[in-house]
Amino acid sequence: MEAKKRGSFTGSIGFVLAAAGSAVGLGNIWRFPYLAAKYGGGIFLLVYLILAVTLGFTLMTTEIAIGRKTGKSAIEAYRALDKRFSFLGYLAALVPVIIFPYYCVIGGWVMKYLTVFITGGAQASAQTGFFEDFIAMPVEPLGWLALYVGVTALVVLFGVEKGVEKVSRIMMPVLVILSIVIAVYSITLPGALEGVRYYLIPDFSRFSVTTVLAAMGQMFYSMSLAMGIMITYGSYMKKDTDLEKSVGKIEIFDTGIAFIAGLMVVPAVFALSGGDPKALNQGAGLMFVTLPKVFYNMGQGSFLGTIVGAAFFLLVLFAALTSSISLMETIVSFTGDRLHWSRKKACLIVALVSFGIGIPSSLGYGPLRFLQPLGFSILDFFDFLSNSVLMPVVALITCIFIAYFVGVKTVADEVRLSSKFRREKLFTVVIKYLAPICIILILLSSVLDGLGMIQI
Ligand code: PHE
Repeated sequence: MEAKKRGSFTGSIGFVLAAAGSAVGLGNIWRFPYLAAKYGGGIFLLVYLILAVTLGFTLMTTEIAIGRKTGKSAIEAYRALDKRFSFLGYLAALVPVIIFPYYCVIGGWVMKYLTVFITGGAQASAQTGFFEDFIAMPVEPLGWLALYVGVTALVVLFGVEKGVEKVSRIMMPVLVILSIVIAVYSITLPGALEGVRYYLIPDFSRFSVTTVLAAMGQMFYSMSLAMGIMITYGSYMKKDTDLEKSVGKIEIFDTGIAFIAGLMVVPAVFALSGGDPKALNQGAGLMFVTLPKVFYNMGQGSFLGTIVGAAFFLLVLFAALTSSISLMETIVSFTGDRLHWSRKKACLIVALVSFGIGIPSSLGYGPLRFLQPLGFSILDFFDFLSNSVLMPVVALITCIFIAYFVGVKTVADEVRLSSKFRREKLFTVVIKYLAPICIILILLSSVLDGLGMIQI
């Protein structure tokens, strides 16, 4: 990345919008609702919110501050602070390599649904089994995967991110409004109120370490943390842009959209299935199974459902693209720099390899269904590996590194360049004690649970 590009965000709004473009994506709209449905609704929401304002705030502040201070992207930034910790940069760089391929599989599903709605297939997509039949196909989902990777790669190759970002700046508010409309409709479906209750009122008997681990992984994923992306964004941030306020805005934006997405999906699951635990536990397919039924219901088979459905999937596609672009951009600039590849070569190789890694994730719902690493589908396994293992580990080491090697003051001073550090106390307690202890405990208990040594 050339030096002249640094500091190119004009003021706080430019920075916030760019970072939000990376943060808001399938994580909010596809992943958050199915996790909330699976992990007990209200209790998951509560744990998520607590984590977002403590650990999320702390990590995002840290990453942006490190980036702005060093003016470098992740690997160089960690090295610049302490040579011994350059491995942390590499570890963080591994995360997008795992996420990007399966992200594109889901992105492909979104493209498929957009096409189905545009071509008047709203009714067909609302039939039971439509989604399962689609993902079980050996070839078609791979075609969508290739198309999605291809579109992302073209944007990254031609450097037209700015164009896509501009479009999505208009699309994003429309997405929020449309989601609110859909959520209001979902809530008023007969039988949905039970679902609203399930989503909003925490049931403490459903609290478990797994809930916390799932919520924590989701928080990292949704806010694009623990993989060095925010360091790069921070390196473009002006010294006088209010860092702490920007973090707050990104968090509110990201969490707000996830919250609305949950309201759109979870009550509808209750309305359609009466809160059947099997429906709530559906996992990765939840949005694709539930929403078409909602859209179809909306229009009573008329044209309205088709329009709302097509608009929705188009908007989600843009939200997903801005995120996958930021994922691929990270991988391309990292491999390009390391291996001295031209941008074109790096884009091509990253696209091909990612497509290759994405294939098993896609086939894992069809021909490769018999492969169940640790009991997960292949896509869920990659998802688990990045969000529940690698990201917590990167977050843990980052906290220890900043708290005990670099010093909290370094980050605090950087924040103070642009404003008073209002939540410095909270920041210090979280990064020094709360975060390391909690992450270690959670990781340990989930590993022991995984090995069947304890029951959580
Ligand atoms: N935050 C994005 C989402 O919610 C996914 C993502 C993760 C993007 C990590 C970049 C880095 O969809």
